[in-house]
Amino acid sequence: MIYFSNPKYSFLKNKKKILNNISKVIDNGQYIRGQNCKNFENSFKKYLKCKFAVGTGNATDSLLLSLKALNLKSSDEVITTSLTATATGISILNAGVKIKFVDICNRSFCVDLKSLEKNITKKTKAIIIVHLYGQSCNMNYLKKICKKYNLYLIEDCAQSAGGLFNGKKLGTFGHLGCFSFFPTKNLSCLGDGGAIVTNNKKLFEKVKSMSQYGWDKNRDAIYLGVNSRLDEIQSAVLNLKLKNLNKDNRERRKIAKNYLKNIKNSKIILPKTVNGSNHVYHLFVVRTKRRDLLIKEMKKNNIFCGIHYKLPLHKQKIFKKFKRNLNVTNQLSKEIVSIPIYPGLSKKEQTKVINVLNFF
Ligand SMILES: Cc1ncc(COP(=O)(O)O)c(C=O)c1O
Repeated sequence: MIYFSNPKYSFLKNKKKILNNISKVIDNGQYIRGQNCKNFENSFKKYLKCKFAVGTGNATDSLLLSLKALNLKSSDEVITTSLTATATGISILNAGVKIKFVDICNRSFCVDLKSLEKNITKKTKAIIIVHLYGQSCNMNYLKKICKKYNLYLIEDCAQSAGGLFNGKKLGTFGHLGCFSFFPTKNLSCLGDGGAIVTNNKKLFEKVKSMSQYGWDKNRDAIYLGVNSRLDEIQSAVLNLKLKNLNKDNRERRKIAKNYLKNIKNSKIILPKTVNGSNHVYHLFVVRTKRRDLLIKEMKKNNIFCGIHYKLPLHKQKIFKKFKRNLNVTNQLSKEIVSIPIYPGLSKKEQTKVINVLNFF
């Protein structure tokens, strides 16, 4: 069996070290907000070259806390894209503000920057940019738009840990960067985990406080917070996994390069990279007009594909009020297929994937 993602591989490879670290956590006796979490926050901010990092329970909470920290009003609007995880959108609704979906570019699957600019109104206060599948749009252009219209920029980096634009780490372009360490992600732990990074001290202090009930140092609740902390066991795992992130991303890129070079079938459109973007291939997504048939053919050969995402957010019930006509998103959501990519996918398995796709 070849799956489109295989988190078990990397955990098994590091099992001894992981168990050793977990054992130390048990012996230590502090299970929440201890030294492992502090170490991870420090290493992660150094890795990203930014000033502040705070561990959270997951990226959905990271996005919610980031939005809550911006003091938005219920009439304010946050712009994002619709071909993304439900998490991106529900964080906006849970923050109690309006959502406006804009279309994406059919080359990069990232936001269409021209359409984004056209959709900015007086009500627009923030943009959540999703670095979908592991690559970004032109961040310089996006930053110019944010500056021109005085907008907050939040980066949804759930799929793009370690990714870069023009040599700068994703997550450090906006006011706040939100990460997921869900087991399948490029940087992952053994359960749920997340982080928020920023260069803004006030925002850091606020999201950190809000991730723990809104407490200040005296345990006086000064904000309406939530409980969303990165625990010591997950932090201990992440301290190990962070050391492998660049190597794992290089391996993902190598597999992608092999696919890009050797998949040759006029019925299959391969992904393109944005100039300046260093893609980390959380997913390798191809397009075909005959998706059901392709998935069936792959399955016959014991290759299991994914679809990210079949139902874009603007078509999901909870977002009905914010429905829009997004032609590119609608079209792509009917054609996309995520084919296997993960560190540990052998050359033989890659060749099998390529052969089945070329024969299709
Ligand atoms: C783009 C994107 N944003 C947010 C999330 C939410 O991450 P988490 O599961 O850590 O809440 C995901 C996870 O699937 C994602 O892919």
